[in-house]
Amino acid sequence: MKQGVQPATGRLGVLVAGVGGAVATTMIAGTLASRKGLAKPIGSITQLATMRMQNNEEKLIKDIVPLTCLDDVVFGGWDIFPDNAYEAAMYAEVLKEKDLAGIKEEMETIKPMPAAFDHNWAKRLNGTHVKQAATRWDMVEQLRRDIREFKAANHCERIVVLWAASTEIYIPLSDEHMSLAAMEKAMKENNTQVISPSMCYAYAAIAEGAPFVMGAPNLCVDTPAMWEFSKKMNVPISGKDFKSGQTLMKTVLAPMFKTRMLGVSGWFSTNILGNRDGEVLDDPDNFKTKEVSKLSVIDTIFEPEKFPDLYGDVYHKVRINYYPPRKDNKEAWDNIDIFGWMGYPMEIKVNFLCRDSILAAPIALDLVLFSDLAMRAGMCGIQTWLSFFCKSPMHDFEHQPEHDLFVQWRMVKQTLRQMIGEKEPDYLA
Ligand SMILES: NC(=O)c1ccc[n+]([C@@H]2O[C@H](COP(=O)([O-])OP(=O)(O)OC[C@H]3O[C@@H](n4cnc5c(N)ncnc54)[C@H](O)[C@@H]3O)[C@@H](O)[C@H]2O)c1
Repeated sequence: MKQGVQPATGRLGVLVAGVGGAVATTMIAGTLASRKGLAKPIGSITQLATMRMQNNEEKLIKDIVPLTCLDDVVFGGWDIFPDNAYEAAMYAEVLKEKDLAGIKEEMETIKPMPAAFDHNWAKRLNGTHVKQAATRWDMVEQLRRDIREFKAANHCERIVVLWAASTEIYIPLSDEHMSLAAMEKAMKENNTQVISPSMCYAYAAIAEGAPFVMGAPNLCVDTPAMWEFSKKMNVPISGKDFKSGQTLMKTVLAPMFKTRMLGVSGWFSTNILGNRDGEVLDDPDNFKTKEVSKLSVIDTIFEPEKFPDLYGDVYHKVRINYYPPRKDNKEAWDNIDIFGWMGYPMEIKVNFLCRDSILAAPIALDLVLFSDLAMRAGMCGIQTWLSFFCKSPMHDFEHQPEHDLFVQWRMVKQTLRQMIGEKEPDYLA
């Protein structure tokens, strides 16, 4: 990383794939309400968190590094439904009408562009507001045009593209994902089996010099081809899958067991949720993508190969059940079977009655603002320091993902300090 960050001058366009979704509309509404003084950006690290400086002074992160101010953010994006952001937010039923009233007019001006969509990648969805594209390469070209036109029409200096659209079906890495040349060839040959719509958004963003954030567990930018492309174009990429509820708890509790050298024999996690995300995940192929993401957490924290007596035989199960009456108010249960001194068993039950999009919205905003900052700091490729926000942190073949929330938080602070040439304070002084 080069030291020194370009200032955040001018406007930042935030283009969201899935701009009519629950997470996207909640993020947009909260941002607009915050800048009007109608709400506080609770849960947002970029807006509220502080850091200790070398001289022990505590300062807001946004006063330490040059983040784009919320007043300079312009939202836009794509969706498979034509509803404007206000109508979509009303449909999502995350926020109450009274909380949307003060920003209704602004939300109504945010109208989605037709989406790059393929029904085979999300079979529960039937979109009407979609692009006609002869090939995946054509899809990319159309998205690139959208980005350029939005940027010019809204007088933006910079763009970040965020995927907050539905989870796509699970696909493994294949030869077409292994190099930029192979991926481009597959796009041009219209290999729709291995090139997903989300890959087209990511490619278009990177090609236009815009950081790309993957908020779902899709393979998408998690491929050698995209790592190569993002480095070639000097663009940051980050993901995957917002770490919002149950996994957030897991990455706090698991390090605690490990630090105390307590054993774990089983971890059963189940959820009910009734929003559109839940409906899409009700399809086994789409659930598989989420399951892989949710399951990856525990092993890397516990390191069973180093501690076989404690974690050599953990039974880990994750379930998501679509249950419409709950809408966005997900309920998650965790049963954790642990054991202590002389192997005596104990149980922990966690019942988290959360609001999915209320937890995910500030994460999405932070990922966008930090990605824009990273770009101005001259960083490119996988942004490991943003693992803090992700259930399934991206990493290349040489590195292990870091899941421990506290280690991830240190990585955030270390990166921000490096950007401005600060040293860590001496906590014992
Ligand atoms: N809510 C959370 O806590 C949370 C946490 C982690 C990850 N996620 C992921 O974030 C994503 C969004 O979640 P949500 O609750 O807002 O879901 P949602 O179903 O409300 O929103 C998704 C939106 O994407 C649109 N869409 C689908 N395919 C598209 C495409 N190809 N192009 C453009 N738009 C498309 C849909 O029409 C919908 O409006 C999901 O993938 C979800 O798994 C959510």
